[in-house]
Amino acid sequence: MKILIKNKDINEALKKVSNLGFVPTMGSLHKGHEYLIKQSQKRCKQTLVSIFVNPTQFNNKKDYLSYPKNLKKDLNILKKLKVNFVYIPNKKDIYSFKRKKKIILKKENKVLCAKSRKGHFEGVIDIMDRLTNIIKPNKIFMGEKDYQQLLLVKKFIEKKYEIKIVPCKTVRNKNKLALSSRNQLLDKRDLIKAGKIAKDLFHFKIFLRNKKKTKSLLQKKKELLKKKFDIKIDYLEIRKKNNLKSSSTIRNSKIFIAYFINKVRLIDNF
Ligand code: PAF
Repeated sequence: MKILIKNKDINEALKKVSNLGFVPTMGSLHKGHEYLIKQSQKRCKQTLVSIFVNPTQFNNKKDYLSYPKNLKKDLNILKKLKVNFVYIPNKKDIYSFKRKKKIILKKENKVLCAKSRKGHFEGVIDIMDRLTNIIKPNKIFMGEKDYQQLLLVKKFIEKKYEIKIVPCKTVRNKNKLALSSRNQLLDKRDLIKAGKIAKDLFHFKIFLRNKKKTKSLLQKKKELLKKKFDIKIDYLEIRKKNNLKSSSTIRNSKIFIAYFINKVRLIDNF
């Protein structure tokens, strides 16, 4: 496994590599990342994983500073998985050039996390553009857990480059909780609670199957979850799978939730 730090190391190391799979991460790796890596290894000759906690996608400095970091453990995991390259860039190198065209989200995209985390997706798209430009992979593997991120990055990258973004399913623990680096910030009790919320929403989705009007049911569910689990809900909405437009039925749609347990913000979709 080759560890690459500087942009020029990347050019040298990847000179002769064809069919490269890229898994972008912010570290604190878990089984969800492992799944992305395995998908890349199945479909590409070589795999590169990047580890970079990107400051520009955090709309809150405290959130950035408290983001879990675990480089030593991450490198052990990547070694065991026989990843070919790990790219650990520094801020200065990554942001050494100013972009020509500012990233501006369209009004129709300013929903869900784009509404409550101002500047977040602009930061994500910018870093994905920079990393893609440096690495020039053939395929990029991203998880459906961050569904809105996946759709926005896919649209941007596939329009600009001849590269495919491969969506990969959400990996969950035995309690149905979606794996996320942020779960490390929860204690055991809150992890169990988050699992129960996920199970509740899986059942709710089944209940919604033949319902034509879901607005009031969604509102009721929101109140119920708040009371039952003592959480603060940022949003609980049903939106179309392909474009995230608001939807009144669950057909071709998903339930999206963002909520806080003890100041830790979790997102999921069902
Ligand atoms: O999903 C993440 O971990 C990050 O948003 C990403 C895609 C690595 C960009 O920093």
